[in-house]
Amino acid sequence: MKLIDGKETAKLIKAEIAKEVAKMIDNDDKNPHLAAVLVGDDPASQTYVSGKEKACKEVGIISSIYRLPFETTEKEVLELVEFLNKDAEIDGFIVQLPLPKHIDENKVIQSISPSKDVDGFHPVNIGRMALNLPSYISATPFGILQLMERYHIETEGKQVVVLGRSHIVGSPMSILLSRKAYPGDATVTLCHSRTKNIKEITKKADILIVALGQKGFVTEDMVKKGAIVIDVGIHRIPSLETKSGFRLVGDVDFENVSKKASMITPVPGGVGPMTIVSLLLNTMKAAKREIYL
Ligand code: GUN
Repeated sequence: MKLIDGKETAKLIKAEIAKEVAKMIDNDDKNPHLAAVLVGDDPASQTYVSGKEKACKEVGIISSIYRLPFETTEKEVLELVEFLNKDAEIDGFIVQLPLPKHIDENKVIQSISPSKDVDGFHPVNIGRMALNLPSYISATPFGILQLMERYHIETEGKQVVVLGRSHIVGSPMSILLSRKAYPGDATVTLCHSRTKNIKEITKKADILIVALGQKGFVTEDMVKKGAIVIDVGIHRIPSLETKSGFRLVGDVDFENVSKKASMITPVPGGVGPMTIVSLLLNTMKAAKREIYL
């Protein structure tokens, strides 16, 4: 069994980005600039945004964080989005989700200029992705594609099973791997909460991508010997062995499934570290006007 090391891969890609940023600055080109909008004080969102800020600093990308109070109105958020759409200094930006309930997330996402939507959440970017046109691909699916490329995982003609149909992971993942591309050209089955006989389906998978949000859902009896397993889940469980009093586990029973898989992503240190790197890569594409001229 070979471990797919997201932590190490993320480190390598960050070093490449840092080199590229330094070169852009040396050439008097520009310094890539990412902005993030954070509304309210959701602790997980604060942690994510701080992580993004730190990663930008590591590679030399400028980051501006707009922290707004919980009470901010939808109109005020839309006005800030409009300001960022127009600000030539900002190459790309994200609005951290979830937003407070009184703000319509879809309306906010749809107000972001697709050319600055480095989260890849705007319907135009999702549509372009489905049509295999240049687009921003959202962080988790893009991170998984990077891992597949770096580990030379063959996808052409393979049976891929995706568990979970979320708009930000399962659904785009199924579209991406069925495209005529590499990674892609796979035969993809998308399973969800209404799927019957899930085990019969997962047992046929050459590549199993799990993004259901259910701790330890995938057990060894559900996996074919030699399969490649990508675990997107992240759950905190109490632990007496760590200082913090908890540890992280995924949607896959790693201990047992890893004995059967040919390659597997650990949790933590698998898909997770790749997501922020994806955002940095998208910001670089924005700064270089690679997707939208
Ligand atoms: N909330 C959880 N994941 C994400 C993400 O990738 N982008 C944004 N904007 N919000 C999130």
